Amino acid sequence: MDVQELEATASAIVAEGKGILAADESDSTIKKRFDSIGVESTEENRRAYRDLLFTTEGVEEYISGVILFDETIRQSSADGTPFPELLASRGVIPGIKVDTGAKPLALARGETITEGLDGLRDRLEEYRDLGARFAKWRAVISIGNGIPSEYCIWTNAHALARYAALSQEAGLVPIVEPEVLMDGGHTIDRSFEATSHTLHAVFTELRDQRVHPEGILLKPNMVLSGYDGPDQASHDKVAAETIRCFKRHVPAAVPGIVFLSGGQSDEDATANLNAMNALGKHPWQLSFSYGRALQAPALKAWGGKEENVEAAQRAYYHRAKMNSAARTGMYAPEMEKEAVPA
Ligand code: 13P
Repeated sequence: MDVQELEATASAIVAEGKGILAADESDSTIKKRFDSIGVESTEENRRAYRDLLFTTEGVEEYISGVILFDETIRQSSADGTPFPELLASRGVIPGIKVDTGAKPLALARGETITEGLDGLRDRLEEYRDLGARFAKWRAVISIGNGIPSEYCIWTNAHALARYAALSQEAGLVPIVEPEVLMDGGHTIDRSFEATSHTLHAVFTELRDQRVHPEGILLKPNMVLSGYDGPDQASHDKVAAETIRCFKRHVPAAVPGIVFLSGGQSDEDATANLNAMNALGKHPWQLSFSYGRALQAPALKAWGGKEENVEAAQRAYYHRAKMNSAARTGMYAPEMEKEAVPA
């Protein structure tokens, strides 16, 4: 394991003012996104859509890395340049989702375990050859009646650490993603408790499995009220509770925390990240690894039509710029009204 290379990659991903575009939707997830705009999910449409994002002029000022899906890492831009090569030529680090999805957890109700460990060592080697320099694995924890269970939290934490160790061995920075879902009517206090519990298990397993903390990035949920809860916590409350939770559990040796958006509106995801960074200097860089919150307006503007590509790119560029501002606590909602650059 080349510790220096891992540390350098991790630091580059959370460089000042920059964050990650998560474009690693599985076939079933991208189909859902395309269904929402009435576009058929063909291999060519998926390629054209990702191409639009990756060729957005100037976005590399705000985007340091892109997470790809297995199909995408093997695809090419319209001019024939393989996507990983295109990204690298713009100074954007290619990454790859390596889990194979969350499946029902045996003998548990309403809980899942993320699969993908079998054969992972060989797949990591192939992805590195294809140009990937970091990886991602997402574990899913749900809040509900009597859940999450200890069983679900610890089995997922164990798998995350096995993946992280294999990634570091292969020279890829593991993005460790334990997502406590915001689905449900729970309070922010329950989110705090479940997130706290989950992070405790994850960092215990990472340590036990010898993962080098300086060479990972954590991709967590923010501590939030459930979607359907009666009282939605303010941005300031979300920021304070998230930082309080993370200070308890995330070692200062971890270079960065790159949040997922998890179904928040794009502007909420930006405002919450901004509120956290406005709270001052933290032991880790606080950045973004957003899927929906970076792509939603672009997807809508595109609508599957070639003539809308530029409008879609402007929408994506704008969200990337807003989230970059949130990295320093300098974002303000008024900036949303700025003319989207032509
Ligand atoms: P969202 O930001 O849409 O939650 O997606 C990020 C991601 O990569 C989830 O695994």
